[in-house]
Amino acid sequence: MCNNKTAQDTCVLVTGGAGFIGSHTVVELLQDGYEVVVVDDLSNSSEKVFDRIDTIVGDDAAERLTFVRADVADKDAMEAVFDTFDIDAVIHFAGFKAVGESVQKPIEYYSNNIGNTLALVDVMRAHDCKSLIFSSSATVYGDPDSLPLTEDSPKKPATNPYGWTKWMIEEILRSITVADPAWNVVLLRYFNPIGAHASGLMGEDPKGIPNNLLPYVAQVAVGRRDAVHVFGNDYDTPDGTGVRDYIHVVDLARGHVAALAWMRDKAGCEVFNLGTGRGTSVLQIIKAFSAACGRDLPYVIEPRRAGDVTANYADCTKARELLGWEAEFGIEEMCRDSWNWQSHNPYGYEG
Ligand code: UD1
Repeated sequence: MCNNKTAQDTCVLVTGGAGFIGSHTVVELLQDGYEVVVVDDLSNSSEKVFDRIDTIVGDDAAERLTFVRADVADKDAMEAVFDTFDIDAVIHFAGFKAVGESVQKPIEYYSNNIGNTLALVDVMRAHDCKSLIFSSSATVYGDPDSLPLTEDSPKKPATNPYGWTKWMIEEILRSITVADPAWNVVLLRYFNPIGAHASGLMGEDPKGIPNNLLPYVAQVAVGRRDAVHVFGNDYDTPDGTGVRDYIHVVDLARGHVAALAWMRDKAGCEVFNLGTGRGTSVLQIIKAFSAACGRDLPYVIEPRRAGDVTANYADCTKARELLGWEAEFGIEEMCRDSWNWQSHNPYGYEG
């Protein structure tokens, strides 16, 4: 990315920009003055999110947003995007993300997630656009030896193909920066993104039965499901249930904008954890969501889920010191905003 550009003359391509984290990031980018091109095939998202984005950012900022419906692996379509727009940097979210499904469909997961990344960097190289932020995951730390996790904590074998795709794409991108020092890659390792936009206009909208805790809890709260299934209460944690570092999706989105500003005059490959540094148990989440929605949510204790770790939470010192970024919101705000979204959109964007 050119060093002397400001947000006002920087064009960012956001792949998967119609998805949960992507759409919140697009809002923050537009509000910061960036020009944004979203490429999304809508395979796991709704075009309706763009009306919501327009409402949140207002007409003037919305004019700086373009949506192209395409698969990132479709090189002709991507060539056309790079020919049409003067893209300075890419934030790459597009990918399949259901852990359980990845175990059933490894070919689809490896081919889609890794294939689309390779296609993307090939087109970027051809157009001399070499600044990339990749959507990675704390899943690359596997079952940690010690907490909190710093960026220097070792990567551990993944427990499913989805996790391996994040693991491998990190290595692929790192290799690219070694081969060509003009590349500028930031790997953002997300902890557990939850919450929704405070407006209630955007949030998580999983298709089918949610795999992740928060969307499941939210659907119990709104009456779509009977009770939360708590996967194990015999972990070595204060209340026996799994502990995670939940982060508000708006904080996470702002982490991308901070990384984009920071990487302007950099090259190479840098990794950042994006979390809050605080661990919260499953039962604490159910309690916090119950307070947000005003009734005690029912739950049943089930056996542990295969592949789950006991606890993980981030050390976010590096992001604070280098990016000047820190998570602002706590569990209360995450549950409040998630409930606001779910109660106003009980069936998501299509409801
Ligand atoms: C999961 C993925 C991780 C991925 C992340 C994306 C697994 C093993 N890991 O993280 O690779 O990057 O989603 O967001 O799937 N829980 C329940 N009941 C539920 C659902 C979850 O008790 O219905 C518990 C889990 O046991 C865990 C916690 O809630 O302790 C969080 O689970 P989840 O939201 O699925 O996230 P992770 O497993 O941390």
